[in-house]
Amino acid sequence: MIRPILVVGNPVLRQKAKRVSQIDKSIQRLIDDMIETMKAAPGVGLAAPQVGVPLRLAVIDVDDKITVIINPEIVKTSAEVELDEGCLSVPGFWGRLDRAERVSVKALDRNGKELRIRDAEGLFAQALQHEINHLDGQLYIDRMDTLDKLQRSEPLRRREADEREARRAAGLEEDDESSTKTTPD
Ligand code: NI
Repeated sequence: MIRPILVVGNPVLRQKAKRVSQIDKSIQRLIDDMIETMKAAPGVGLAAPQVGVPLRLAVIDVDDKITVIINPEIVKTSAEVELDEGCLSVPGFWGRLDRAERVSVKALDRNGKELRIRDAEGLFAQALQHEINHLDGQLYIDRMDTLDKLQRSEPLRRREADEREARRAAGLEEDDESSTKTTPD
């Protein structure tokens, strides 16, 4: 079941989430719902507080691989690099910030077995840090020096329309009504 994603301003996003004490049926259902919600968004990761559940649990989808982390802890970090980042709870924006290039994480998987993620890098490392921040009530915008650097990401359809307009102006595309039709919302 797809659950609604809370957006910045909702106090649940600012709470320090509690540890998961027992991985029971309701937790399994929550994990399934979070995976479905993340995929539908679509997003690279989703933390339980984002669907209104203040528990230390997150799901990540990188390179077609789903990772479930329960009670995660970052046990090792490398030097930081500058990255672009966005969040489903801060819709319509992205920003640049510094994050560790590589991280190692200790957590439980959805079966309650210990999970060791050693020297994760790239988008996976970024998502691990971003989701674990969510569990501490932190959003990526808190890590930016100034919100002046926050960029507005225009809706995809608007961007596509602008690109089409530019191509047409450059004489690269015929002004054909049928090619500009979009599917209804
Ligand atoms: Ni997020």
